[in-house]
Amino acid sequence: MIRMKLIFVVLAALMATLVAAPLHAQVQERPLPHLVKKDGRFALFVDDAPFLMLGAQVHNSSSWPSALPKVWPAMEYLNVNTVEMPIYWEQFEPQPKQYDYTMIDTLLAEARQHRVHLVLLWFGTWKNGSQHYTPEWMKLDLVRYPHMVDRDGQAVDSPSPHAVASLEADKSAFTAFMQHLKETDPQRTVLMVQVENEAGSWGSVRDFSPAAQKLFEAPAPPELLSAMRVKTASSSPNWRQAFGPDADEYFHAWSVAKYIGQVAAAGKAVYPLPMYANAALRDPFNPGPPGLPGSTGNYESGGPTDNVLAIWKVAAPALDILAPDDYQDDPAAYLKVLELYHRDDNALFVPETGAADKARFFFCALGLQTIGFAPFGLDYTHKAADRSLNQADASRPPEELLAPWAMNYRLVGPMQREIARLNFEGKLQAVAEEQGKVTQTMPFGSWNAFVSFGAARDNRGAGNPNPAGRALVARLSDNQFLVAGFFCRVDFRPAGTEQQRKFQHIVKGTQQNPSALIDGKWQHRQFLRVEEGTYEDGTFKPIRIWNGDETDWGLDFSSEPVVLRVTLGIY
Ligand code: DGJ
Repeated sequence: MIRMKLIFVVLAALMATLVAAPLHAQVQERPLPHLVKKDGRFALFVDDAPFLMLGAQVHNSSSWPSALPKVWPAMEYLNVNTVEMPIYWEQFEPQPKQYDYTMIDTLLAEARQHRVHLVLLWFGTWKNGSQHYTPEWMKLDLVRYPHMVDRDGQAVDSPSPHAVASLEADKSAFTAFMQHLKETDPQRTVLMVQVENEAGSWGSVRDFSPAAQKLFEAPAPPELLSAMRVKTASSSPNWRQAFGPDADEYFHAWSVAKYIGQVAAAGKAVYPLPMYANAALRDPFNPGPPGLPGSTGNYESGGPTDNVLAIWKVAAPALDILAPDDYQDDPAAYLKVLELYHRDDNALFVPETGAADKARFFFCALGLQTIGFAPFGLDYTHKAADRSLNQADASRPPEELLAPWAMNYRLVGPMQREIARLNFEGKLQAVAEEQGKVTQTMPFGSWNAFVSFGAARDNRGAGNPNPAGRALVARLSDNQFLVAGFFCRVDFRPAGTEQQRKFQHIVKGTQQNPSALIDGKWQHRQFLRVEEGTYEDGTFKPIRIWNGDETDWGLDFSSEPVVLRVTLGIY
């Protein structure tokens, strides 16, 4: 009897422990996602290996549980592996210090059901330069949570980065959010967190409130002066003395970055996921004035625009990445932006982009080792709308606008791990068609891969009617390459040894197959084996061999997602 009682007590205790145990005790805790830099290249490590985020960002009001049924079908069609979803401060903290976790829990549960990762966007103090997502109790107390003031003393539709109470409130809420993620996401559904959204201000270059003015007239921070290599007559110059005409903008960038850096640091102290801030860009070639409403080229002042990245890096070290929202219409500007944010101190990540005609530039981002890419607003909560069409058109099937992005992800999806690894190892290059540039060459040591768009048999590209071509090539071993793309032809030409390239005259020829006269001897490319296949669990599985018409003029890619493993030789 006593023994029975004992067994019962032990069993009851065991049950109680199981019931009381937090959910994550029953789920295997996975390694934390983190950024790794090696040999000058970055990768996002997920489960301790490079991972490429094939992402999409939902519309601003699509994170509500009632909207999600219109989100998931679009995400499935796109074949994303990561969805970017906002978390709204006004929903999360309806009353001071009363946090509502229901929406986060729903997002986590539904993302897991749909087998995708999340990047969560903290719509906190700033959303597109304004404070529209702060809770109502903050909006009603403008003395404690003030707006910025412009040069004329007028309130601006933008929060002051000098508002101490706002900073404290944001830090507390963000920390509670991160703490909850830590407790409820041992499986690391969430890969990264965006801190604020397109921070800065549109209505004024900076805050001209008395508090801000006092700081502006005080000595500029010494760590910034030394990072920017500023030399002035005074050893502790104020902002104007240090930065002349750029002082207002730099002061604002510093102030906004400092604020966001503190929010990020507070959140990271409880749960150190990678964090980033996104930028509303300025025109990379012809920027207008910052924060000057009504002027041509006016851009949001204070955010991580290309001219103040160094300031943000010093002011906000808790942010791992400064990321461009690339909506540039001009293709040259679009590509320039990718280059500007691909830096030795900054991994390229494109958290927002738009206009379906730019889908091909996903490949250019890959060529710059992007860790992820996400077109904006492709869920089905809105009628078909696209910047390039400049209109909403209900008669169009909803998938039509998604198709160019879906093509990319269908092609890369099954091999995203391999692409991320090859990129991290510096073995991958990728290009997209640019108007008037109908061929492009990618050098891979002893081989040059060349791509032509709209090519005829002689490989002379004429360009596609719509420039939609894109190609990626990765070196698997000395004479073996992975090749994939759309609307293009890819071929290879011998490029000799490093010595020969340095000292000998190499003549490119087209005598037979792509050839080169190297050290007075013709070398011709021959395809030893061209295998079409697919990656399954990290292994390339050939499904057929290309030869004859499929290889005699080069390797042609149409709208089908085709991956080739190409083994080359010379005769
Ligand atoms: C950029 C912002 O970051 C997004 O939240 C959204 O407002 C888009 N612009 C709309 O184009």
